[in-house]
Amino acid sequence: MSKEFQKYFETNKQTWDNKVGVHAKSDFYDLDSFKKGETSLKKYELKALGNVSGKSILHLQCHFGQDTLSWSRMGAKCTGVDISENAITLAKELNSELELDANFVCCNVLDTSLYIKNQFDIVFTSYGVIGWLPDLMPWAQMIAERLKPGGVFYIVEFHPIVWMFDYLEKTPVIKYGYNQKEVIYEEYEGTYADTNSNMISKEYGWNHGLGEVISSLSKAGLTIESLEEHDASPYEIFPGLIEKEKGMYVTKDKLYPLLFAIKATL
Ligand SMILES: C[S@@+](CC[C@H](N)C(=O)[O-])C[C@H]1O[C@@H](n2cnc3c(N)ncnc32)[C@H](O)[C@@H]1O
Repeated sequence: MSKEFQKYFETNKQTWDNKVGVHAKSDFYDLDSFKKGETSLKKYELKALGNVSGKSILHLQCHFGQDTLSWSRMGAKCTGVDISENAITLAKELNSELELDANFVCCNVLDTSLYIKNQFDIVFTSYGVIGWLPDLMPWAQMIAERLKPGGVFYIVEFHPIVWMFDYLEKTPVIKYGYNQKEVIYEEYEGTYADTNSNMISKEYGWNHGLGEVISSLSKAGLTIESLEEHDASPYEIFPGLIEKEKGMYVTKDKLYPLLFAIKATL
C-alpha cells in the first residue's frame, strides 16, 4: 500500500481505537440488547443476502463485530476485518462470550489478501466504509480475490451525495466534491454514536461517486446485478432527518437518496 497514505490511515486507526470504548457504551450500538439476541443487521442487507446458513462471509470494516456476529447467529461462517485493534479485541471477546465461531483479523482492509487466503461465498460491507479509502481499485481487486467463483459481493453504504455536505457547520452546506480525490480532514468533538462524548475525532476521508464504485468493481471482474438508491436510512446520523417508519429516517424533502446498495457477482 502506498506510503503516501500511511499517515492518514494511522490517524484514522487511532480515532477508531478511541471510538470503540465510547461506542460499546452507547445507546446507538445498544450492546445489552445485542448480547440478549437482538440482531444489529438492517432490513436492506437482511433482504439482499437472505438465508446465509452454511455460507462463508467475509465482513470488511466490521467495527467491533456486531454485524459479523449477527450473521454468525444466522448460521454463517464469518470472518471480520478491521483496522482498529480495540475493535477487533472487543469483537473477539463478544465472539467468546456469545459462544459463536467467527474469526476476526486486524488489518487495513486494503491488505486483506495478505492476511486471509481463503475465498468466501459472500463479501459484505456496510454503512460508513468506502470513505476511509483513497482509491477504490485496490479495494475492488481485493474483493474479487477473496470471492469464490460465483460468489456475491454486497455493499449498502451512505450515498455519495450525503458526503458533499459539511456537517460541522450549524446549517450543513455543500462543501466537498461528489468525487473528491483530495483528502478531506475533519476534527470534532464526539462521534456519530455519541455526540455528547468529549473524545476528539480526527479523520481523513475521500469521496467516491457511484461511477467510481461501479467501475472499480466491474474492472476487477465483478458483474453488477443491481444498484439501488434509497431515501430511507436505518441510521439517524445526519441532522434534520425525520423518522418515516419505526427506525427508518428520511430527509424532509427527499430530494436525494441517503443510501445506495450494490449486489455484484464474480
Ligand atoms: C462506520 S464503521 C463501519 C460501520 C459498521 N457497519 C458498524 O456500524 O458497525 C467504519 C469501520 O471502518 C474501519 N476502518 C476505517 N478505515 C479502515 C481501513 N483502512 N481498513 C480497515 N478498516 C477500516 C473503522 O475502524 C470502523 O470500524
